[in-house]
Amino acid sequence: MEPTKALALSDAFGMLHREEVLALADLVQKLEPGAKVANVGAGFGTSALTIAEVRPDIELVSVDIRDDDNPFGGFMNERNAFINAGIELKHQQIKGDSPVVAEQFPTETFDLVIIDDDHTYEAAGNSITKWLSRVKPGGYILMHDYDSVMWPDVKTVVDEVAEMFFLKFEWQEDTYICFSRPTVAQMKKKGKTP
Ligand SMILES: C[S@@+](CC[C@H](N)C(=O)[O-])C[C@H]1O[C@@H](n2cnc3c(N)ncnc32)[C@H](O)[C@@H]1O
Repeated sequence: MEPTKALALSDAFGMLHREEVLALADLVQKLEPGAKVANVGAGFGTSALTIAEVRPDIELVSVDIRDDDNPFGGFMNERNAFINAGIELKHQQIKGDSPVVAEQFPTETFDLVIIDDDHTYEAAGNSITKWLSRVKPGGYILMHDYDSVMWPDVKTVVDEVAEMFFLKFEWQEDTYICFSRPTVAQMKKKGKTP
């Protein structure tokens, strides 16, 4: 199924490129029924709308630090995207600083965490490492703006974290990069201690 409303949002605002919307749609369509997903950085609602369109059964939470009318994104923009698309917004919106919100969840909670929030070196490192521990072994972490000219720190941080935590590269589409968190068995097979 094509996320037509999210693609229209991509054309209008470009927060995610069309190829990225389609890659995210492919990924979530592979998740188990009732999977849990954290969408960190609500932005213009493109990622949340993609998920709501193709996998409405998914237990989704969005996280953002803003909930006001502004040109950079936040919960108001996400709600407006759903209203304009004619899709009911059923997921929880949790307002706060990304790494702080991550701590509200037990470790190994999510089948997929999507990170698209603060792209500076220190903030991105804090956010990614905190959320990574909330991903179930075998689950996915998907990061946006990897290897983009505008946000060079994202690549630096992602490469460091991927090496440090033995993440398994899954795919890259435009500036989306996806890794899976190794299971204990996979770590042992590689001779690594989790
Ligand atoms: C590029 S936008 C996300 C785009 C979104 N994924 C989409 O599909 O439209 C980045 C968002 O991250 C939020 N953000 C920035 N720093 C944050 C932080 N420290 N904690 C939580 N959200 C943050 C911004 O308010 C903004 O809404």
